Amino acid sequence: MYYPEELIEEVRMKNDIVDVISGYVRLQKKGSSYFGLCPFHNEKSPSFSVSRGKQMYYCFGCGAGGNVFTFLMEYENFSFIEAVKFLADRAGVELPEMEYSKEAKEKAGLRATLLEINKVAAQYFYVQLKTEQGKTAYTYLTNRELSDDTIKAFGLGYSNKYSNDLFQYLRKKGYSEDLIRQAGLINTDEKNGVYDKFWNRVMFPIMDVNNRVIGFGGRVMGDGKPKYLNSPETAIFDKSRNLYGLNRARTSRKPYLLICEGYMDVISLHQAGFTNAVASLGTALTTGHASLIKRYVQEVYLTYDSDEAGTKAALRAVPILKEAGISAKVIRMDPYKDPDEFIKNLGADEFEKRIGSARNGFLFSLEILAKNYDMESPEGKTAFFKETAKRLMGFEDELERNNYIEAVAKSYRVSEESLQKLVTKTAISEGMAKPAARPKQAGGGKPKEDGILVSQKILLTWMIEDVKLFGTIKRYISPEDFTEELYRTVADLLYEQYEAGELNPAKILNHFTAEEEHREAASLFHTKIRELSTREEQEQALKETILRVKGHSIDYRTMHLDPTDMAGLQRLMEEKRKLDDIKKLHISIE
Ligand code: UTP
Ligand code: MN
Repeated sequence: MYYPEELIEEVRMKNDIVDVISGYVRLQKKGSSYFGLCPFHNEKSPSFSVSRGKQMYYCFGCGAGGNVFTFLMEYENFSFIEAVKFLADRAGVELPEMEYSKEAKEKAGLRATLLEINKVAAQYFYVQLKTEQGKTAYTYLTNRELSDDTIKAFGLGYSNKYSNDLFQYLRKKGYSEDLIRQAGLINTDEKNGVYDKFWNRVMFPIMDVNNRVIGFGGRVMGDGKPKYLNSPETAIFDKSRNLYGLNRARTSRKPYLLICEGYMDVISLHQAGFTNAVASLGTALTTGHASLIKRYVQEVYLTYDSDEAGTKAALRAVPILKEAGISAKVIRMDPYKDPDEFIKNLGADEFEKRIGSARNGFLFSLEILAKNYDMESPEGKTAFFKETAKRLMGFEDELERNNYIEAVAKSYRVSEESLQKLVTKTAISEGMAKPAARPKQAGGGKPKEDGILVSQKILLTWMIEDVKLFGTIKRYISPEDFTEELYRTVADLLYEQYEAGELNPAKILNHFTAEEEHREAASLFHTKIRELSTREEQEQALKETILRVKGHSIDYRTMHLDPTDMAGLQRLMEEKRKLDDIKKLHISIE
């Protein structure tokens, strides 16, 4: 660990979880907890709860949970250390400088190092743009009407003509060839050895929402191929989860995002005052993009290119967005190719008008659909309406469906009543009148958790839920009964706290600084427990769980016992006898 545990705990205590999460989620007080819409899954009624007393959050819908650090790790995609730094800064806690020894660097993890390399590379490209050799690139950008402010804001740069200039530079800075390769900045072949991936191109650094450079796009200055060369996917660059320009767009304070296709579209739009533009960078919009978008807005305007590919991309994006609970509208750019050209030719005011006359995503998809049918013939028209009825069934919410039926009836001049009838008929014949049962997952999906681990988790959850229960459980169960190493560490810390009279699970999570471990530990305190209504039921469940965990622990330790350890064997036999006593016992929870 980099920082002493006390310091991490100080940072945690100075950042009230309700205050911090309120910056991201609208919370309302209900009883002793605060509730809001979960930012980690799509929901209509709040099941995300934050407890000021426990300084923990938990979603009853999707099971996400943890302390204030966990929240930022999940929400901002921070590492544990990044979350600590961010909150230290927020609360004005001074952290000691971290020394960058070789070991520290290794510990900082691959991701942190790759981010560092990308940052250094971005700075290098940026400086190159302003040098004599970068003149052509700079002229290229100004010819495309980008201002100095825009170039600076997006950190645009130039990769020069020397074939391994950046590589040499990064090597001199102390980064190994292996890491530079893992950052996606070099290639190797037999003839040329190691050479820079980006060469004589205008460089577009791609940043995540926290302004960290995660990759690059490089454009040829002219008609060479490929037009754009992009960083490969790396440990820090996942194309399906990042949107170009979102780091700036997220602070635009507009209730919707403009989604376009290219780097230059985003940059032109921002320069023209549309600072809420982002791009999916030539890849199709994914559910990963949709859930990212959902964190910031509920509505998007698709301003894809006006060619066939752009239209197809919009058609594919609409249902993906809808599934995530985001409504989509479509803006047409014709007679121009894309937003960049549109703005250059017609200006911002005209673009604003196009936003105003954007078409609803669903109705847009019907317009495109209609092109496949001969709408002049009765057969063609009937077939079109049958397909439309099928699509209308996709709206599970009745009110929403009826609104769309009304809108479609109006635009295609048929009676609402007959369209409604057709929809109902289609629903029956397609067996969709009731929402179809979700297909059972065969093999796929999450593997069922090991039963005994669930029992151990349940005990831990109970222990922090209720101090009285802790006292009861402690009489029969000790930390060594938790056979899973991570659980045992958590139990050790919990028992220590209990003895000291200060149960504080939020603090325990500070102990786990590796991301996966941290998440797993956070989940231990939030195991879903069947609702038990009566006290008898609760007592029965408690007894069964204790017996199961204890029994398993004895078996486990017997199996792993050193055969020469007679004293150990004796102890286990003693415990086994006690286990039989517990079976006869009534365990009271009062
Ligand atoms: P476009 O071909 O529409 O380019 O590709 P553009 O954005 O209008 O670029 P300019 O205006 O000619 O400079 C849209 C996006 O698709 C990706 C890039 O992200 C680009 O911005 N793309 C395109 C590539 O990754 N590689 C390519 O060769 C072409
Ligand atoms: Mn363009």
